[in-house]
Amino acid sequence: MSYRVALLPGDGIGPEVTEATVQVLAATGIKFDWVRHADLGAAGVDKYGVPLPEHVVQSIKDLGIALKGPVTTPVGKGFKSVNVQLRQKLDLYANVRPCKSLPGIKTPFENVDLLIFRENTEGLYSGLESYDDRHDIADSIARISKSGSQRIIDFCFDYAHTHGQKKVTVVHKANILKLTSGMFLKLAQEVAPKYPEIEFNDRIIDNMCMQLVIRPQEYNCIVTTNLFGDILSDLAAGLVGGLGVVAGANIGAKYAVFEAVHGSAPDIAGQNKANPTALIRSAEMMLRHLGETKAANALHHGLVDIYTEGVHMTGDQGGTTGTDEFARQLATRVASHI
Ligand code: NAI
Ligand code: MG
Repeated sequence: MSYRVALLPGDGIGPEVTEATVQVLAATGIKFDWVRHADLGAAGVDKYGVPLPEHVVQSIKDLGIALKGPVTTPVGKGFKSVNVQLRQKLDLYANVRPCKSLPGIKTPFENVDLLIFRENTEGLYSGLESYDDRHDIADSIARISKSGSQRIIDFCFDYAHTHGQKKVTVVHKANILKLTSGMFLKLAQEVAPKYPEIEFNDRIIDNMCMQLVIRPQEYNCIVTTNLFGDILSDLAAGLVGGLGVVAGANIGAKYAVFEAVHGSAPDIAGQNKANPTALIRSAEMMLRHLGETKAANALHHGLVDIYTEGVHMTGDQGGTTGTDEFARQLATRVASHI
C-alpha cells in the first residue's frame, strides 16, 4: 500500500529541504507515491502565465493532501502570494504551528510548548487592497467573518481538548480594532466555558509579544487572527531554535497541506545549507494526520538522536553539515527506530 500525496517543492531552499524530507520519509518504510508539481510562483508565471496553475489546485483536491516547500512572493509588488492563494482556494482555515523545544537544541528557554492556531483565510490577508490615485491613499481591509472566526476557535479548543492541552490564550487587539478583533475575542470567550478543564485567558497582541520573550512557559495554545498568527509564529520559532526547526500544517474540512513556517530563504538557497528539520517535522505532522503514528514517532526520535548527539548540525544550529548529509545521517537514525 502507498499514499498518493502531492509534492510541491517550491523555490529557494524549497527543493533542497523537500528532497531531504522525501529521503528521510523513505527511511520510515511508509511508501509514498509522490505527484510532483514544481512550477509554482515565478516558475508558474514563466510556464503557465500564472503563479498558481489551476491544475495544481485540482491535483491537491483530487489527492486531498500535499507536502509543500516554500514559494517566494515578490515584496511590495508583483503577483499575490501562492501560499495565501492556496490556503484560500482549498479553504485551509486552520494553520497549526507547534513551537516545542526539541531535546538537544540549545535555546534561551527550556520546556517551551506552544501551539499556535492561526486563522488562515481572512483578516488582513483577504486580498482586499486598493489605491486611490487621486488622494494617494492606500487601503488594506482586514475583513473577518463570524463563521470564519468561529471555526478556528472551535478547532483550537477541540484540538486542545483531544490532545490533553492545558491552556488556551486568545490573542487580539480588541481595544483598538473593536469590530474585527472584538468579535474574535467575544467568540472565544463564549466557547471557553464549554471546556471547563482548559484554562482560558486573553492577551493583547503587543503585550503577548513581550510575554512570550520573557515567560513563554506560561503559555500553551494560542488562537488568533491571520496577521497576528503569522508574526507570533516566527517569534515563537525563535524561542525553540529558529525557523529551520519549526513545522506547520494547513488544515481544512476537506484537504490538508503540510509546510514549514519558514520561507524560501533566498540568502542561503542553492548552497546546501538549509536545515530540513522544519519540513521533516511538518512531514511528521502529516504522518500523524494519516494515522501512521509509529513512523511519526520514529521521525521524532531520529531528530532527538541527531540533535542530542550534536555532531551533524546545519549552519543555523552552529554547524557546517550540508542539507543532504543531515538527511543521510537522520535517515539512518530514523530507520533504527522502526
Ligand atoms: P525566510 O523564512 O525565508 O528566511 C528568514 C531567515 O531565516 C533567513 O535568514 C533564512 O536564511 C533563515 N531560514 C529560513 N528557513 C531556514 C532553514 N530551513 N534553514 C536555515 N535557515 C533558514 O523569510 P523571508 O526572508 O522573510 O522570506 C523569503 C521569501 O519567502 C519571501 O518571498 C516570502 O514571501 C516567502 N515566504 C514563503 C512562505 C511559504 O511559502 N509558506 C512563508 C514565509 C515566507
Ligand atoms: Mg510567515
